[in-house]
Amino acid sequence: MAIDPQFHESRERVGEENGVAVWGPVDEPEQLGIRGTHVAVDYDLCIADGACLEDCPVDVFTWVDSPGHPESEQKAEPTHEAQCIDCMLCVDVCPVDAIDVDAGRTA
Ligand code: F3S
Ligand code: F3S
Repeated sequence: MAIDPQFHESRERVGEENGVAVWGPVDEPEQLGIRGTHVAVDYDLCIADGACLEDCPVDVFTWVDSPGHPESEQKAEPTHEAQCIDCMLCVDVCPVDAIDVDAGRTA
C-alpha cells in the first residue's frame, strides 16, 4: 500500500502540528494520519527508514517521536515543506511509498 495521492480530497484536514497540516483519521497513538500538504508523509506507513532525511537536498524533513505506533517510534515530518524544490528524491527512495509530492498542491 502506498500513500493516497488524492488524500487532500479523500481525507479531512483535522488540525496542524509544528505548522504542518494533519489529515485524518487520527487515533493516537496507533493511527496518526497523513502530515503535510505539498510534501505529504503517511505516518501510518512510515517505518522510520530515514532515507528521505538523508537524501533531501534542502532538508525538508525532521524526526518526530511517535511512541506506541505499530510501524515505528519515529516519523519523518515534512517540517520545512515550503523549501521543497520538487526533486522527487524522497518519493523515489522511501521503501514503503509513504511520501507524495505534488507541485500544485499547497496548504
Ligand atoms: Fe526534498 Fe522530496 Fe522536495 S527530497 S526537495 S522534499 S521532493
Ligand atoms: Fe519514513 Fe519513508 Fe522517510 S519510511 S523516514 S518516509 S524514507
